Amino acid sequence: MSTAISPTAYNYKVVRQFAIMTVVWGILGMGLGVFIASQLVWPQLNLDLPWTSFGRLRPLHTNLVIFAFGGCALFATSYYVVQRTCQTRLISDSLAAFTFWGWQAVIVGALVTLPLGYTTTKEYAELEWPIAILLAIVWVTYGVVFFGTIVKRKTKHIYVGNWFYGAFIVVTAMLHIVNHASLPVSLFKSYSAYSGATDAMIQWWYGHNAVGFFLTTGFLGMMYYFVPKQAERPIYSYRLSIVHFWALITLYIWAGPHHLHYTALPDWAQSLGMAMSIVLLAPSWGGMINGMMTLSGAWHKLRTDPILRFLVVSLAFYGMSTFEGPMMAIKTVNSLSHYTDWTIGHVHAGALGWVAMISIGALYHMIPKVYGREQMHSTGLINAHFWLATIGTVLYISSMWVNGITQGLMWRAINDDGTLTYSFVEALQASHPGFIVRALGGAFFASGVLLMAYNVLRTVRASKPAEAEAAAQIAVVGAH
Ligand code: HEM
Ligand code: HEM
Repeated sequence: MSTAISPTAYNYKVVRQFAIMTVVWGILGMGLGVFIASQLVWPQLNLDLPWTSFGRLRPLHTNLVIFAFGGCALFATSYYVVQRTCQTRLISDSLAAFTFWGWQAVIVGALVTLPLGYTTTKEYAELEWPIAILLAIVWVTYGVVFFGTIVKRKTKHIYVGNWFYGAFIVVTAMLHIVNHASLPVSLFKSYSAYSGATDAMIQWWYGHNAVGFFLTTGFLGMMYYFVPKQAERPIYSYRLSIVHFWALITLYIWAGPHHLHYTALPDWAQSLGMAMSIVLLAPSWGGMINGMMTLSGAWHKLRTDPILRFLVVSLAFYGMSTFEGPMMAIKTVNSLSHYTDWTIGHVHAGALGWVAMISIGALYHMIPKVYGREQMHSTGLINAHFWLATIGTVLYISSMWVNGITQGLMWRAINDDGTLTYSFVEALQASHPGFIVRALGGAFFASGVLLMAYNVLRTVRASKPAEAEAAAQIAVVGAH
């Protein structure tokens, strides 16, 4: 059907583009995760080439899963949510299109430069200055599109999900710009504007809040829209959501020093970071409880609705990783966990269990809507995906707990005469079975995403995007 789309209808084109790229980057980023996990089992897979070595592919993995997969999921859902909850079209189609193409260009920049070895060496901020500048421009444009749309909203209130998306956009801009201040010496080499312990502190203020605002606050925005929608229930407590918002954003920003325990950072700063991290448990669990309790009276839906299962299980992993994090921030616990696979397990409890699962649930809800379909092509495949993802996550994190605690205890074991009981290689050998289980868990998770890609492809093939937009227009007109 060819429909002349009125300018009042929603801009679903950019939502569709970001949604599809979420799946594409998900496959690539997680496929690469499985590859580097396999390199830790079979080092021959480094292939004796510099650009396929673990050291270069690992940051490519983190950039692809966080910024490409996670980033596209956040762009897609925030553009969808802000239009629907504000009952208005995005403020500018061309600026929105610029954010899409600009963001893909940043990712392609990462794909090329990281394997070639161009890196600032700052974790999660590896991209060299020309790409970092492009990223900053795209991000500020994103802010203009998002907040511009909020300003021209047709509704009285700003829905709470938008508060979370908004905070994620503002704080990410602030972190990125401050942490990337540097002096370029050539096209692909720059030196940080900071030095020594200050550089480390700024880097982990950035790094921790990349977790807090990029991997948490943005996805909480997603949670506040998609959980009530899928459960067909209002959010459990609006008041709790407001307390949750302000408590989370005021506390997260202080917790960075827990990444720098027992370093040259002043002791008081380490202790402050530890204390703030422990307090952070409260708002994190407040948010989790608010999401979970939204299902009051709708728990039976979990039996038949695998999309809701994705969303609820993601909240369970969110609760688990935000309990584990504050524990790991306690200095004595951190003296065991730091440098070990325990950290890697914690990361992926959050990354696979929370970030990826909530994104997948949100995409399964949203994709049919923006393609003019009633539902995804196959619910059975969503169900199979759910089990692959859940089993994969459990295998990943449990093997890393076992490895982490084993490594920590072996490294610190001391004989009566003060010498080390175990060599490093012995601890590595003890980690081998865990590495195998982790690679297997990762393969489970990644094959689930392949099923998703097939399901999305079939849904898109049968799609009627013009009808989705026309329905959106009716919704907008009907609302007034
Ligand atoms: C199939 C799924 C995945 C597999 C198999 C996988 C595997 C890996 C491996 C092997 C490492 C390196 C660990 C080490 O250095 O010992 C790693 C690091 C990392 N991955 Fe993944 N990953 C997957 C999915 C994800 C996703 C979806 C995210 C984020 C949304 C993510 C975020 C990270 C981060 C942040 C690190 C660095 C952790 C640190 O430095 O402490 N991963 N991953
Ligand atoms: C209350 C919430 C949380 C607290 C207090 C917390 C605390 C911590 C601590 C103490 C570490 C280990 C630092 C070290 O020894 O180097 C850590 C590492 C990490 N956490 Fe969390 N965590 C929380 C939630 C999360 C969530 C929900 C995610 C993911 C979505 C996440 C992702 C990460 C990542 C990526 C790292 C590794 C950083 C690196 O060394 O590269 N955290 N976290």
